[in-house]
Amino acid sequence: MKKETLTLAAVGDIHCKKDSQGTIQPIFAGLKDTADVLLLCGDLCDLGLPEEASILVREITSVVKIPILAVLGNHDVESGAQAEVTKILTGSGITVLDGDAIELFGVGFAGVKGFCGGFGRRMLEPWGEEIIKRYVREAVDESLKLESALARLRTPQRVALLHYSPIEATVEGEPKEIYPFLGSSRLEDPLNRYDVAVAFHGHVHRGALEGRTRAGVPVYNVAMPLLRRSFPDQPPLRFITIPTEPDSSRASALPPKPFTNAESTKSAVA
Ligand SMILES: [Fe+2]
Ligand SMILES: [Fe+2]
Repeated sequence: MKKETLTLAAVGDIHCKKDSQGTIQPIFAGLKDTADVLLLCGDLCDLGLPEEASILVREITSVVKIPILAVLGNHDVESGAQAEVTKILTGSGITVLDGDAIELFGVGFAGVKGFCGGFGRRMLEPWGEEIIKRYVREAVDESLKLESALARLRTPQRVALLHYSPIEATVEGEPKEIYPFLGSSRLEDPLNRYDVAVAFHGHVHRGALEGRTRAGVPVYNVAMPLLRRSFPDQPPLRFITIPTEPDSSRASALPPKPFTNAESTKSAVA
């Protein structure tokens, strides 16, 4: 079904723990009327345990009845059980993107976990020790996965989901010393090359809410701790509306849709 605009609700870094039952469901209650697609930007689980994933999907899918897309984060792979975590998510109807692409309502979505390595001229280069080369190779591979996923989409508009940040602007606020562990500029190039309408990422709990790539692609950091601090009176979700056909403006040119969750009244999440 084609729509003129699509409203995306996005959040990352839920960090579901074994004792999180009952705490996550209220965040998503009422989402059906306010968004068309829910995007989960990694660190869904705290330790990457299947038990955590089971709690998470029960909490979310009991109230969310719109399509849900997700990428994994570094916490989701911590226990080496990412295959089982992914199986639990997909078994509950959540689409997990790992270099994959999917079309919903005429809009294309590409997702990848991403990796770190730093930004711009300070980016780690594949030089010297073999282990440094392997580290950089991981960032390059994640970037190539994102690029090939975007290339497979034939939709007029593309949306990208990541866990790690593709730009430095949204990590500002974190200690400078850890910037290289929060994302990689290698993830930015595919966003620019495929003129992505909007990109979302998590992982950066104390960063900035939004920034733009060199080509002007809007990038939103939707890490839940950041959303909680930034919008303390609202559920920690970011709502962005995009046109399903490209125009001269980008996502941020559209006014944010009023947030009308049962728990919240007339406040708007920009
Ligand atoms: Fe996180
Ligand atoms: Fe993370």
